[in-house]
Amino acid sequence: MEAPRDILRRKKRVRQRKLIIVAVVTTLAILLAVIIPLAVILPKDRQSKGLSSIVLLPLYSYAEPEAWKPLFEVLDAHADVNFTIIVNPFNGPGLTQYPENNFVTEIGKLNAYENVRLVGYVRTTWATRDLSTVLADISTYSGWSALESFDDNSTIALAGIFFDETPSIYSPEAAAYLGTINQAVKNASGLLPEKLIIHNPGTTIDPRLDDLSTDITVIFESSYQDYREREAILSSLPKDRLRCSYIIHSLPSKGFRDLGKFVDSISVQAGALFVTDLDERYYKSFGSNWETFVSVMPT
Ligand SMILES: *[C@@H]1O[C@H](CO)[C@@H](O)[C@H](O)[C@H]1NC(C)=O
Ligand SMILES: *[C@@H]1O[C@H](CO)[C@@H](O)[C@H](O)[C@H]1NC(C)=O
Ligand SMILES: *[C@@H]1O[C@H](CO)[C@@H](O)[C@H](O)[C@H]1NC(C)=O
Repeated sequence: MEAPRDILRRKKRVRQRKLIIVAVVTTLAILLAVIIPLAVILPKDRQSKGLSSIVLLPLYSYAEPEAWKPLFEVLDAHADVNFTIIVNPFNGPGLTQYPENNFVTEIGKLNAYENVRLVGYVRTTWATRDLSTVLADISTYSGWSALESFDDNSTIALAGIFFDETPSIYSPEAAAYLGTINQAVKNASGLLPEKLIIHNPGTTIDPRLDDLSTDITVIFESSYQDYREREAILSSLPKDRLRCSYIIHSLPSKGFRDLGKFVDSISVQAGALFVTDLDERYYKSFGSNWETFVSVMPT
């Protein structure tokens, strides 16, 4: 027979156990009540984590009929996405007044889209290319506005210039060079009123080279692997995302499940984006993730 004190202790233990069970069940119920609605909400919510951005497409391929078909397909399917497209007939505008007929036809078609603006490719070889040659290239592109496209009433007039290989290291000469070429774009009467100026140093620049007339600077142009290595540094930089662009190639095409999540994450850093899974000739054709990339662009 138990002593009365033992009976009391046993009852107390039973009470405590009951309390613990009630506490555990209540906690589980609360957790489930929180987790289940979150699980339902989160997948939908994820898409809105990106910030509205544009596609900056280096279109360096030859304008053979059909060659730009993957581009026209996404333009038709995604009228809500804005595209700034870099045309590059001949490592620049070429040696003739107007580009070849194939380019005239295809560029004219691109210009007919309301969500497209076109810029002409001009390389500057880190501010060492002969300045008068660069000014002549700008002038040639500007002159395109005088020509009408064959197929319809759209013209091949460009909205601005993409300067490739701009310097990232400051010198007074480099700053003066960039100031002159930017001014030449602003002066060019044949470019459309926006007169967009894009610089591509491919890396971050000395702040003294950041001319406010430059609309967008490509502060990252390299492989996905390089991006992962520099991501922390890049994201910690103070910057105006709308004046920044990232161009990232060599994305892993297998095992890259959530391109949307990746594009969301870079859109927070830069407002003009291009990513491709091609690891060579990245700007001369369309990667297997081209359509998916455009479809996940945050608008
Ligand atoms: C081009 O313009 C002319 C005259 O303004 C018009 O009659 C014609 O329908 C236009 N063509 C297209 C394809 O828009
Ligand atoms: C731009 O135009 C201004 C005013 O006409 C002129 O002084 C300047 O030299 C021009 N600069 C370039 C690079 O065309
Ligand atoms: C696209 O461009 C139009 C016209 O400039 C603008 O109203 C719209 O906000 C832009 N959308 C995005 C997602 O950039």
